[in-house]
Amino acid sequence: MPSQAVLRALGEQVKLGILVFNGKFEVSIANKLVRELFGVDEVAANALARNLEALLPPFALSQSREAGTWTGSLPIGERVITVHLHHHAEGGNEAFLAMFQQLEGPEDYERELQQRHAELRQAYLRLNGTQEKLLQSEKMASIGQLAAGVAHEINNPIGYVHSNLGSLQEYLRSLFTVIESYERALRAPDPKALIPEIDDIRNRLDIDFISRDLPQLMAESREGIERVTRIVRDLKDFSYSGRDESWKLVDLHAGLESTINIIWNELKYKVTLERRYGELPMIECLPSELNQVYMNLLLNAGHAIADRGSIIVSTGVDGDEVWVEFQDDGAGISADLRQRIFDPFFTTKPVGSGTGLGLSISYGIINKHHGRIDLESTVGEGSRFRIVLPIRQPK
Ligand SMILES: Nc1ncnc2c1ncn2[C@@H]1O[C@H](COP(=O)(O)OP(=O)(O)OP(=O)(O)O)[C@@H](O)[C@H]1O
Ligand SMILES: [Mg+2]
Repeated sequence: MPSQAVLRALGEQVKLGILVFNGKFEVSIANKLVRELFGVDEVAANALARNLEALLPPFALSQSREAGTWTGSLPIGERVITVHLHHHAEGGNEAFLAMFQQLEGPEDYERELQQRHAELRQAYLRLNGTQEKLLQSEKMASIGQLAAGVAHEINNPIGYVHSNLGSLQEYLRSLFTVIESYERALRAPDPKALIPEIDDIRNRLDIDFISRDLPQLMAESREGIERVTRIVRDLKDFSYSGRDESWKLVDLHAGLESTINIIWNELKYKVTLERRYGELPMIECLPSELNQVYMNLLLNAGHAIADRGSIIVSTGVDGDEVWVEFQDDGAGISADLRQRIFDPFFTTKPVGSGTGLGLSISYGIINKHHGRIDLESTVGEGSRFRIVLPIRQPK
């Protein structure tokens, strides 16, 4: 094992700046090139680790602790220096090795550029993955928020289907009683003699009413079951993970209707919803992601309405684009807020009730569709969000 002195002597010869220090920023090696770079003598070199810490971006140390290494460029004096920071921990002790490389010839710059490019690409891929997860968790969070409403929407029809089944059971019992009395009459020596008795039973059990009410009960129950089926299907469409969703040709109105269906419970007490649908061609899109946009815009419109108000959902075609518009007569958005509402985490809602992600995620989704979101709003009069989408995605 070479001694510290030998290591130090070797370090002096290397064409790289080398700085070795521990977790308390105590310097054990600062070679000649580093001292020259920072313009310090051997004594002042002891403070170099602190100097470096001040120059590094805040996450550099933590990243090299976590990932073992961090690489970046630092402006030192007039020059731009590449820094590779390596970290090693063993038995409670940690050590950092910082290597400084000055860019000189064009090849250096090119190599540096290529490395930066690779790093950026990696960062981009990581970010993309995070974005995907964010999208999915925002969707799940909104479904979570809506769960109580959806449960209510499902419970209602189940409630009356259940009570209808109770009535049906009674009706069946009555009908069987009547059938029995007919059967008795048929087997009697003089069936006609039993007619008054049968009439009496029919009246008592109100068979005329039953025969009128029964089809109605059946229709109502069927409708209830269909409603539940629809909500469950919409919910399934909605929670569909974006990861493996593929581009499809769809009817935007169908997605709008499923979304309205899911959030209806949130809106129905204070909002009258008007549909002004135009004729739309099939649109190439990621339908479940668009549903998420409709939901965000509709919920925002609902939140902007304090007591009672109206939301108008309109659609139309314009050349090779279509638009879907959500207009509310709620609070409106002031000009300076308009600059910020698409920022991630920007919300004016009380802590815990809005994440501030709705619009920024919607913006991302529409962007991915090569479309745009236009906004017009007047404080005190309301807002109009218009999504514009190309009918076919560019090749
Ligand atoms: N239709 C609207 N009318 C008035 N203000 C709106 C409207 N839509 C959005 N805003 C404003 O924009 C802000 C950001 O909206 P965004 O949907 O991004 O987040 P949020 O609704 O606050 O929270 P969440 O993440 O739950 O959607 C809202 O807090 C609100 O102030
Ligand atoms: Mg929102």
